Amino acid sequence: MKLFEPLKINSMTLPNRVVVPAMVTRLSGEDGFVNGDITDRYVRFAKGGAGLIVLEAMAVHGSKSGPLLRISGDEFTPGLRELRQKMKDAGPGCVAPQIIHFLKISRSGWRQKVDDLSIDDIRAIVDAYAAAAVRCIDAGYDGVELHMAHAYTLSSFLSRMNKRRDDYGGSLDRRLRVPVEVVTAVRKAVGDFPVGVRFDGEECIKGGYTGDESKLIAWRLVQAGVDYVSISAGGKFEDAQPREGEPLYPYTGYSGDRCMPGKTYPPAANLYIAAGIRLFLREQGSSAPVIATGKINTPELAEKILNDGHADLIGMARPILCDPDWPRKVQAGHFDRVIRCCYANVCKAKDERFQTVSCFLWPKGEIQAPQSDDSVAPQWPEEGAGLKADGSKGRIDLKWNAAKDNEGVYGYDVWRALGEGDFERVDAVPAPVTGYHDTTAVAGFEYRYYVQGYDYAGNRTPASGILQARIS
Ligand SMILES: Cc1cc2nc3c(=O)[nH]c(=O)nc-3n(C[C@H](O)[C@H](O)[C@H](O)COP(=O)(O)O)c2cc1C
Repeated sequence: MKLFEPLKINSMTLPNRVVVPAMVTRLSGEDGFVNGDITDRYVRFAKGGAGLIVLEAMAVHGSKSGPLLRISGDEFTPGLRELRQKMKDAGPGCVAPQIIHFLKISRSGWRQKVDDLSIDDIRAIVDAYAAAAVRCIDAGYDGVELHMAHAYTLSSFLSRMNKRRDDYGGSLDRRLRVPVEVVTAVRKAVGDFPVGVRFDGEECIKGGYTGDESKLIAWRLVQAGVDYVSISAGGKFEDAQPREGEPLYPYTGYSGDRCMPGKTYPPAANLYIAAGIRLFLREQGSSAPVIATGKINTPELAEKILNDGHADLIGMARPILCDPDWPRKVQAGHFDRVIRCCYANVCKAKDERFQTVSCFLWPKGEIQAPQSDDSVAPQWPEEGAGLKADGSKGRIDLKWNAAKDNEGVYGYDVWRALGEGDFERVDAVPAPVTGYHDTTAVAGFEYRYYVQGYDYAGNRTPASGILQARIS
């Protein structure tokens, strides 16, 4: 599979094309130092075998925030170095910290904007990025990723909402000026160390930029010296929904949905943006790798994206949070043992509340994905799965018998086909739940369902019998 072919980016060779994009964990304290829980999370990702693991956004400056890693001083380097070493011992993937600058925000609703920054403030931001990038080298990382996406400082410079009247705002070229200065300063400071950038391919807000401008942003940043571009979307303050007494969280509006597309979005919801950017870069003669992310969850889809030339690398954030062993299992030909993300976005909600980011499907209270090498598959009880359906309430309610397993049943996948069509896995529920409400069925169609239980290693029960159902 192309997904498991290596890719060289400057001096780092990724063993495969699976990328874990940055995902804040809220496992650090407010002090910003690496701790045991953070280490466990990333060692687990490393063991899982992804080609590139981008460490969650860490601050290049000392501004107060909730729990967040920091790389704003040399005192953070030893912890980061130890983390890198432990990840190296655990797996073959390359690792790059994502480094971020954010503006001030208060519970009262006030937030600092790029217009408020003086030229000295801008100089300090550029210098802070360069110093943090050098710390990534000192700590033994393979590269560094500059965070220019979502609601944060550099993204706000790129934004069409940047109305500064000086050289740093207004036109696209001027909005690019601070980001380009950051890339230039980082490049100067780190030499030929791999430097990537993550930015929004679409702002997904009223009046925000789209692919027409983001393709030029990508090209300009590559010209300035970045080695890869990772395309995200949305996640802006402009459409965030205020909550009394809480600081504004930039993923609560429509642009937040587009950043972490939930259940109602189609697979690869943002792929067209990355594909358009990649095409433009290639037309300009640039071979910079492009990472596409956003509801890409199956090996078939990932492979198709690579073969169609829509991206060079596949970002999978929530799927790998859900099952860090996704790459290892798929490479071994066992996608059927992957615990599959159902995009319930509980992880996103936890991030919003500054709570430890965990997965809806993990056993309650766990802060890391369960691990097991068990090979004994769970079984249905003697009387069988007993799948039943009731379509009398304007939806289809499914119920089944609990499966049994030597280590414990972990959850159930729900599969559905429309009429005679192919089965698709529509959702998952964590054990001990043994029921599902399909609220997306409509009267007039015949549906077919089956369910499969899985254990902690991802071994599955045989499919329950197929059941036909309709809304009565
Ligand atoms: C809990 C959580 C934290 C995230 N933190 C970051 C982050 O620190 N930096 C970043 O660029 N994106 C962050 N993201 C966005 C993801 O990297 C990714 O782009 C998004 O989840 C869509 O990809 P997916 O469908 O594979 O999950 C975060 C997403 C989630 C769910």
